[in-house]
Amino acid sequence: MGPPMVLNFFFLLIFFLCPTAISAFPVAKSGCQETCGNISVPYPFGMGNSNCYRDLIFKVICNDTYYNPPKLFWSNMEVVKISLLGQFRQLDYVGNDCYDSQGKSILRNNPYYIMFNNSFTFSDTENKFTALGCDTEAYFITNGSQSTSGCIMSCPNKQVLINGSCNGLGCCQTSIPKGFQYMNISVSSINNHIFVKDFNLCGYAFLVDYKWYNFSISDILNFNHYKDGTGFSRVPVVVDWAIPWETNITSCEAMKSQSTYACGSNSGCSVSKNSLGYSCNCFQGYQGNSYLQDGCQGK
Ligand SMILES: *[C@@H]1O[C@H](CO)[C@@H](O)[C@H](O)[C@H]1NC(C)=O
Ligand SMILES: *[C@@H]1O[C@H](CO)[C@@H](O)[C@H](O)[C@H]1NC(C)=O
Ligand SMILES: *[C@@H]1O[C@H](CO)[C@@H](O)[C@H](O)[C@H]1NC(C)=O
Ligand SMILES: *[C@@H]1O[C@H](CO)[C@@H](O)[C@H](O)[C@H]1NC(C)=O
Ligand SMILES: *[C@@H]1O[C@H](CO)[C@@H](O)[C@H](O)[C@H]1NC(C)=O
Ligand SMILES: *[C@@H]1O[C@H](CO)[C@@H](O)[C@H](O)[C@H]1NC(C)=O
Ligand SMILES: *[C@@H]1O[C@H](CO)[C@@H](O)[C@H](O)[C@H]1NC(C)=O
Ligand SMILES: *[C@@H]1O[C@H](CO)[C@@H](O)[C@H](O)[C@H]1NC(C)=O
Repeated sequence: MGPPMVLNFFFLLIFFLCPTAISAFPVAKSGCQETCGNISVPYPFGMGNSNCYRDLIFKVICNDTYYNPPKLFWSNMEVVKISLLGQFRQLDYVGNDCYDSQGKSILRNNPYYIMFNNSFTFSDTENKFTALGCDTEAYFITNGSQSTSGCIMSCPNKQVLINGSCNGLGCCQTSIPKGFQYMNISVSSINNHIFVKDFNLCGYAFLVDYKWYNFSISDILNFNHYKDGTGFSRVPVVVDWAIPWETNITSCEAMKSQSTYACGSNSGCSVSKNSLGYSCNCFQGYQGNSYLQDGCQGK
């Protein structure tokens, strides 16, 4: 009875693997790994061999020796999704400021978010600066604007808080300026949480993909999302990316004659959102990865 079962197993394997392998458009350069765990890694991003990514700023690392499922990293930040529409999502740390019930400070972490290359920036349309707490002062400084912004919150009791409502009671959100390369976050308290200690001992502040974050009252008791190996919470932040211009070239027209032009056949170049650089898009009627030589294919 042994052999038939083995055959059956192979038959199932072939049956399940083939359809996806044939119908999918190429994501990565040929010979390069296309996914890290279940995360797709489209060119110009790539891992491993240096011909798998466009240049060092698009190099990502898939760590499958330490993590199961594997985790993807871009300049030391964990990445959870890469989109060819000029954005990716990374996990960034949450700032916190915690006290014990006597009002003694027990934990303080003011993170800063930094982008290592100016053809990448924190999306001003997808992210909002968010602060949580009922005795909380939180603000941020970016290098995009010389001003500081943020919020100060106090709430009389837990009953005023509303799940799903970030309206200034326990949760506040504000938009961020365009095109900056770093953000410093500061979170502190006015009365060391002594008047709200029954339901809120910490203040939190972070930049976050606002469509992902939905305020929950339980978050001001214990903010607990995407914990890293050492127990610190993180949240998804949207990063805008683009192909950098060459020295003295800032138009698609001039870019087309350069040997470094990034757009493949059947695709066109456009100035990226935020003018960070340019992006490539398949012409109408074509789909696939416009950053690969023959990545855009007829539908
Ligand atoms: C990838 O797997 C994780 C769990 O391992 C899951 O939470 C996530 O939704 C998956 N993502 C995709 C794009 O399938
Ligand atoms: C994977 O992660 C572990 C733990 O952070 C680290 O020690 C190791 O160097 C990483 N491996 C690679 C290939 O980056
Ligand atoms: C960003 O990366 C591009 C391409 O590698 C490089 O030319 C440029 O100097 C980098 N800029 C910074 C600020 O690192
Ligand atoms: C922010 O600082 C970086 C590095 O110092 C610089 O390259 C960039 O142009 C600055 N951005 C803005 C909007 O000031
Ligand atoms: C708010 O949401 C949390 C978590 O989903 C739930 O445990 C709690 O009962 C909700 N509270 C109110 C007042 O709706
Ligand atoms: C946010 O949470 C509230 C209450 O917990 C829920 O009613 C609402 O549908 C949620 N909104 C989204 C966008 O998930
Ligand atoms: C932001 O934080 C970084 C790292 O701690 C520091 O070098 C920089 O001076 C800070 N910028 C501002 C405006 O506070
Ligand atoms: C860029 O333009 C400046 C000013 O016109 C010129 O001095 C410089 O040589 C140019 N650089 C390159 C690489 O063409």
